[in-house]
Amino acid sequence: MAQPLETDRPTPFDPPVELRRRAPLSRLAYPDGHVGWVATGYAVTRAILADPRFSTRRELLHQPVGNERAHERPTPAEPGIFPHMDPPEHTRYRRLLSSHFGPRRVAGLTPAIRRYTAEALDRMAAGGSPADLVTSFAVPVPALVICELLGVPAEDRHAIQAATAVMNDLESTPERAVEAVMSITGTVRGLLARLRAGPAAPQDGLLAHAVAAGDLSDEELTNLGMVLLATGHLPTSSMLALGTFVLLTDPGERARLAAGPELAERAVEELLRYLSILQFDVRRTALADVEIDGQVIAEGETVVLALPVANRDPARFPAPDTLNLERSAVGHLAFGHGVHQCLGQHLARAELRIALTALLERFPDLRLAVPAAEVPTRERMAVYGVDRLPVAWGAVPAE
Ligand code: HEM
Repeated sequence: MAQPLETDRPTPFDPPVELRRRAPLSRLAYPDGHVGWVATGYAVTRAILADPRFSTRRELLHQPVGNERAHERPTPAEPGIFPHMDPPEHTRYRRLLSSHFGPRRVAGLTPAIRRYTAEALDRMAAGGSPADLVTSFAVPVPALVICELLGVPAEDRHAIQAATAVMNDLESTPERAVEAVMSITGTVRGLLARLRAGPAAPQDGLLAHAVAAGDLSDEELTNLGMVLLATGHLPTSSMLALGTFVLLTDPGERARLAAGPELAERAVEELLRYLSILQFDVRRTALADVEIDGQVIAEGETVVLALPVANRDPARFPAPDTLNLERSAVGHLAFGHGVHQCLGQHLARAELRIALTALLERFPDLRLAVPAAEVPTRERMAVYGVDRLPVAWGAVPAE
């Protein structure tokens, strides 16, 4: 019998209990009445993500959680919305974008990441303890970095942050979601118009390069800018906040990282594996009947790839429920796998490494300002995380 998705979890850092009890591939009842699947085993998940018989085309996908939006039949992706395209259309966009997200470009952005990190920490220190780590640190750093990469001027950055938060909320009403998309596309359109207008416009970012290269239409560029702004900061900010949260509740692992910043690269991989924040949004629909793990996913059926559960598969990662910053978590699926594997993964890794180590260095006595159970989590959002993370430092106030 197909069951709906339950999201109760034993701790804020663990995947939903109900999903962990399931077989590696099992039936799932979707809110729109579709009976599809959920993959929770590592091997099955990886196999589906690598298989060209599965599509990300938006009009074919059913949504596993949410309210009214889950019942709407989605329309095909507009030009430029490449995450919802299959090869060869998808390949064309990935080729045009890959150099902007490769290790060399990310190395070039490192000074900006350090600067935005230091400025956010300065502002946090100046504002005094306690503070909300989400609004003072985890959101602004990645948002400013992706705006820098694209060449979005400072005055447009706030509106973009607000709109992407609405877009990524699966519980947003359709009207609010559409409003948010319109707000971002309006900002990007304005920027493109300024870029085309001539030499006074900012020339450094990805959008300026794309305009100059002339490979893409205005509609494609606008949508592409929207996709990159939307995907480029929420996951990283969620990882920063949730990563900090788990470290503040695990003094042993936190002390290890603080004592050995050279561990940061490995630690970031393990945090990505352990927290795997893209919880329900990685989905595929079968384009043909496909036999996997002894079962047939029929043409037209949607499968959710439950990355947080796959990354806790004991067959792949020994003692998967233990956060061990020294383990090699290589091969984790937190960035997905196959042709749609995260375009921004090098950037995200650099941001997490720089921001987390700088935060621990700047505030060696950082602690939660409320009991862990009172930190509000985003249970049913596509990107899991916390809405707020109240933190404190310095002297403990007298009772
Ligand atoms: C795709 C995770 C940061 C841009 C993905 C996918 C995952 C993921 C799991 C695959 C989705 C699928 O297969 O359906 C993450 C995590 C991040 C992060 C955990 C942070 C810790 C970023 C950043 C960017 C970005 C900083 C910068 C723009 C994208 C894009 C795609 C994508 C454009 C779609 C790729 C495609 O369809 O070809 N991400 N991401 N991500 N990510 Fe990320």
